[in-house]
Order: sequence, then C-alpha cells, then structure tokens
Amino acid sequence: MKTNTALRRIGILTSGGDAPGMNAVIRAVTRTAHHHGISVLGIKRGYNGLIHGDVVELDSQSVNGLITRGGTILYTARCPEFNTEEGLKKAADTVRYLGIDGLIVAGGDGTLRGGLDISRLGVNVVGIPCTIDNDVGCTHYTIGFDSACNTAVEAIDRLRDTMQSHERCSIVEVMGRSAGHLALYVAIACGASAVLVPELPFDFEKDIAEKIRKGRIRGRSHHLIIVAEGVAGISHLGEQIKDATGMDPRVTILGHIQRGGMPTARDRVTASRMGEVAVKALVDDKKNRVITMFKSEMQEIDIEEALAMKKDLQPSMLEAAYVLTQS
Ligand code: F6P
Repeated sequence: MKTNTALRRIGILTSGGDAPGMNAVIRAVTRTAHHHGISVLGIKRGYNGLIHGDVVELDSQSVNGLITRGGTILYTARCPEFNTEEGLKKAADTVRYLGIDGLIVAGGDGTLRGGLDISRLGVNVVGIPCTIDNDVGCTHYTIGFDSACNTAVEAIDRLRDTMQSHERCSIVEVMGRSAGHLALYVAIACGASAVLVPELPFDFEKDIAEKIRKGRIRGRSHHLIIVAEGVAGISHLGEQIKDATGMDPRVTILGHIQRGGMPTARDRVTASRMGEVAVKALVDDKKNRVITMFKSEMQEIDIEEALAMKKDLQPSMLEAAYVLTQS
C-alpha cells in the first residue's frame, strides 16, 4: 500500500444537522492522525469556517472525554455561501493557505455533496456519514441514527404511560426529513398501531381508522401512530381520527430533542471506526472517498460513486411493520 508521506495536516469539519457521535468522530480522527504523526485542524461551523478561516488546532488534550458527548464541539451550520462559485473557491483557497493536505467532512447528504464540490477544486476529501435520518444512499448506517431512535423510544415510552391512563390515541411526529427510516424503526420498537412514512402513500381508512377500530375490539385502549415529518397531508390527522373513531387524540412533535444527548454504544463505536478508517484512507494516499458501512464492515468508496447511490426503506422492515401493526 502506497503511503502518503507528504500528509502533514488534516482538517475536520462537522456540517448540517448535528448527530450524536459527531464528537466521537472528531476524537477518533484526532487520535488516529496523531498516532500517524499528523496534526489536525478543527474547522468551526462547517463550510462557513472553511470560507472564513475559522479554525482551531486539535491536540490530544482537546478531545479528551469527547466520546460520551452529544452535539459537536466544532459547531455546525448550513452554509448557503458555500453553494456559490465564489464561496467554494474561497473555501478551497483557505484549505491551501492553511496547509490542509486532507479534509474530513462529517455530516449528511448535503455535507457529503459539499465535499464532492470542493474535491473538484483539487482538495482531497474524505466524507463520514453522520445524520439521524440514515438517508445516505451509499451506506447501510449513518452515525447518530441509533441514538436518535433510542431517544425517541424513551420519550414515547413515557408518553405511553399517560396516554394509556387516559385511553387516548397519540400521534407522534419523528424527524427524518424526507425519509422514513427513523419512523419505521421507532414504530417497531414502540409497538405502534400504525406508521406513516413519506416513501409510501397512505389511506386513512385502511391504514389508520380500521386499525384503531380493530384494536379496540381486541381490547386495546391506547393507540400510537408514528408519523415521519416528511409525510404530506397530515395536518388534520387528529381531527380525522376523532371523527372516525371517537377517540381523543393528542399530537406530540418530538423535534430536535432527537438530535441531542449522549451517543449510544453503537454510535460511539461506529464513529470511532469510521474516524479511524477515514484517516487511514488519507494515510494510504486514497483520493476523495466516503466511509461507508455495509452489514457491519467498513469500506471506503469513491465520493462521486457514493453520492450517486440511492437508499430505499428496507423491505423486510416494512413487512415487519405491516404485520406487527395489524393487531
Ligand atoms: O437532517 C437532520 C434533521 O434533524 C432532519 O431530520 C430534520 O428535518 C432537519 O435536520 C431539521 O433541521 P434544522 O435543525 O435546520 O431545523
């Protein structure tokens, strides 16, 4: 394996919506880089920091204790300026000015696309998929997904207590942007009566009203409907349920709480492994890669190929959700 002996300094940024485990990525990248005698610059506020040269040196001390912490110590932002030709050029100039030989970008689809854009200006980029949405096509798993699922499940378990006492129907909206991965996992984990995802059309009568009625005949007094935030046409779902079933629904939007908190063991380990593999890719003189996970194996693939890949909801998960919400 060819080794890049010219690799002296790595830059790392976190961008887009934060995800539990981003800090563990920063820690793993920093520790692995130092292990190889490479210095690390933390770039603040995603691509913004790159455009404006807002950076901090990351030494071993600065990443102590980070593995347990949610959020990102480098801050994160969405950066419209980076989508302009001028912004992109400024960012690439900063990379050269700061002597960054390899740039690691951690975030979701938009972040990885930003990585592809800047790689076309000659910056060597490695992407690490981090998003609670798990909607990045090139990988089975994105860092933060498991933590967000667990946070949502814990909150819904609490809701269930009060909803059960009042024999109510709860409608819970979970995040996921235009994808239903989070909703599907959470629905199965919470024993929901129904789940709505943006990828599939729904029929109110068949997919919700009938299930609630059947459940009541079987003695169920509480019903939980999980809705992914990207589902269209649900603003009157509560009223529709009331009219169709006579139940007294309550709507809860879990919102940004799903992005906070300590990463789970799965996210800590995945973040640590992906961070290590990302630095290794740069050390091995690989160009423009995304670190991905297939089954439980880490791989690194070409960023252009990676971003052309699509991901559907897992058919076996859909099947399980379908069967398990019938009773
Ligand atoms: O992509 C992560 C995510 O949390 C989505 O699930 C959600 O749609 C979006 O970010 C919310 O973004 P913001 O923090 O800008 O409100």
